[in-house]
Amino acid sequence: MKDYDERIKELLGKMTLEEKVGQLQQCGPSLVGAFVVSFEELLNMMFDGRISQEEFGRLMGTAEQDFHEEDLRAGRIGSYNGVGDAETVNRLQKIAVEETRLGIPLLFGYDVIHGFKTVTPIPLAESCAWEPDLWERTGRMAADEATAAGVHMTFAPMVDAAKDARWGRVSEGAGEDALLNGLYGAAKVKGFQGEDLSRKDSMAACVKHFAAYGAGEAGRDYNRVDMSEQRLYEEYLPAYKACIDAGARAVMPAFNDINGVPCSVSRKLLRDILREDWGFDGMTVSDSNAIAECVDHGIAEDKRDAAKQAILAGMDMDMSSNSYIENMKELVESGEVPMDVLDEAVANILRVKFELGLFDDPYRTDSQRESQTMGKPEYRALGREAAQKSMVLLKNDGVLPLAKEKKIGIIGELASDRGEMTGAWAIGANGDDCISLTDACDARGIPYTYSKDGKNILKMAIESDVLIAVIGERKDESGEAASRASITLKPEDEELLKGLHTFGKPVVVILFNGRPLAIPQLNETASAILEAWHPGVEAGNALLDILYGEVNPSGKLTTTFPYTTGQCPMYYAHINTGRPGGRSKFTSKYLDTPLEPVYPFGYGLSYTSYEYSGLKVEKTEKAFRISAEVKNTGDRAGDEIVQCYVQDVVAKRVRPVKELKDFAKVSLEPGEEKEVVFEIPFEKLGYYDREMNYVVEPGLFRFYVGGNSRDTLMAESVL
Ligand code: BGC
Repeated sequence: MKDYDERIKELLGKMTLEEKVGQLQQCGPSLVGAFVVSFEELLNMMFDGRISQEEFGRLMGTAEQDFHEEDLRAGRIGSYNGVGDAETVNRLQKIAVEETRLGIPLLFGYDVIHGFKTVTPIPLAESCAWEPDLWERTGRMAADEATAAGVHMTFAPMVDAAKDARWGRVSEGAGEDALLNGLYGAAKVKGFQGEDLSRKDSMAACVKHFAAYGAGEAGRDYNRVDMSEQRLYEEYLPAYKACIDAGARAVMPAFNDINGVPCSVSRKLLRDILREDWGFDGMTVSDSNAIAECVDHGIAEDKRDAAKQAILAGMDMDMSSNSYIENMKELVESGEVPMDVLDEAVANILRVKFELGLFDDPYRTDSQRESQTMGKPEYRALGREAAQKSMVLLKNDGVLPLAKEKKIGIIGELASDRGEMTGAWAIGANGDDCISLTDACDARGIPYTYSKDGKNILKMAIESDVLIAVIGERKDESGEAASRASITLKPEDEELLKGLHTFGKPVVVILFNGRPLAIPQLNETASAILEAWHPGVEAGNALLDILYGEVNPSGKLTTTFPYTTGQCPMYYAHINTGRPGGRSKFTSKYLDTPLEPVYPFGYGLSYTSYEYSGLKVEKTEKAFRISAEVKNTGDRAGDEIVQCYVQDVVAKRVRPVKELKDFAKVSLEPGEEKEVVFEIPFEKLGYYDREMNYVVEPGLFRFYVGGNSRDTLMAESVL
């Protein structure tokens, strides 16, 4: 990467104090005109049911947006959030470049979380493909579309390992495991940023939410995180570090506090770990309004105090809270914030602007490129591939794949509601171009009968051979501010299923949801369960591909499905305790629920079967070499995700019963057998000791290989 230090220094030398502070300001458009409430109030009105989602959309569509152009001309804005069309971006950019004193270009940020126009499966879903190459390709596609609409930076990837299914934002990351989140995040960073950030189709990746946002107490959004330093370093930080190592140019500190210090003002996170230990030299940008919220946290007296603490801690850009723009000049003039500290923050932001090539070409797109780029056929095809690989077959008593001649009856709103296919955080798309299950049946000429709500379906049920219930969560039931205290199916869905079972026909359940659900009953009663998550624009096509066996399902869960909400947080890499759960009374368990989950981490079925054998562990000079044979014992070709776990049996701090260390996706023809080999370097077997030293200790290790975290072969070796 080019070194822009000289140019940055030169520019800083020309900037007034006000202009410097302006670079730290990121704002979004305000809405005016069509109604007299603020955007936040309007959002609240929708969420508490005073207006419908449709009404919200209509009001948003008719509202005029105020881009604070006077502030922009005065050099008081360095970046916008949430502007996603080429015309507006270029109009505002022109003002910045031609009408401000120094002509410094704006940086446009946007939440491109799982696709821009071509919406791909939610991240939790896509992680179930266990395929870094796919994650990178969909990231590249998202970057091409988003940059065509003028976006320079995406607030993604989110790599908050999340072990508590109550948390709504489980949907936005790659599940419960730090290694998987890190691999997912690194692949996204590569996809988003491409080979060269200055290319017009590259956008900067902003890794979030630093750190451990997924560990909020009781799964309640924004809640406190209180954990040992060792745990933070072992189970959470590695995912963010993997993204920094992959070259991510921005980081968003999390809303939550860790051990009493909100991440937004944590010098330890933002300076010591991020910059000193990890060598990061990109920019940090706060989460929305997070600097001002330090007052609510009770760590700052007012916004001025919050601004001071944040910049001293290493927060470069203020998203939406106006804390910097209102107070920073005075803070610097009074000497409370040294000019050097301000200069460093400005330099970090300018560096990313230089790297993006904005000083050479501030207009990286135009309306023509925008219209030519969106939703290309090859992008739809990639969206379909991603959806196929993300779906997880949870149960199948043989009813799937469906025989062509079977008459199907489809029940449930989610089978036809296009807008619901996208899932949470798909703000660049409105769902119009989504293909629902019923759309796909229509397009392929597959006959079906359909009922939205399962009422009056006697005739339909009698005439159908198979009933397909499409149930679960609507898209606004996961994502931000969407934690649930109970993660069961809804009562109306339970009722519906009860009714369907009375007909004595096979019931196939397709689940749409953004988190694990507690569904032990369903596992007992349904003939088949296909976890579809929120699959994106090609939802219906991918579903039919799998239902009719044109595609053999291969997805595996990256998150544990508990029996009941009371088990949350539930995750595979737990520790044993001194009294591991078992049959005798005084062991670590619940009286009223099994110890095991319904579906373990790594679990997923296919239309064929696999057999594992011959697990061997050899020690080479620097690594353990673990090998096993995997055979396709069924009559269909398939892709099996082979997983390798490790346990450090005796250590100075208690260690998890299993930790994922590697995996491989293997294609096998019927009857075919392959050897799968994992090389695990000794240095990857370490942990943080009582004094916070990373140590790799000699002693006994167990190695587990299998198709999920529960059903594995085991072999031991000594280091
Ligand atoms: C979310 C972030 C997001 C930001 C900007 C916040 O509410 O926590 O993940 O990037 O909004 O839209």
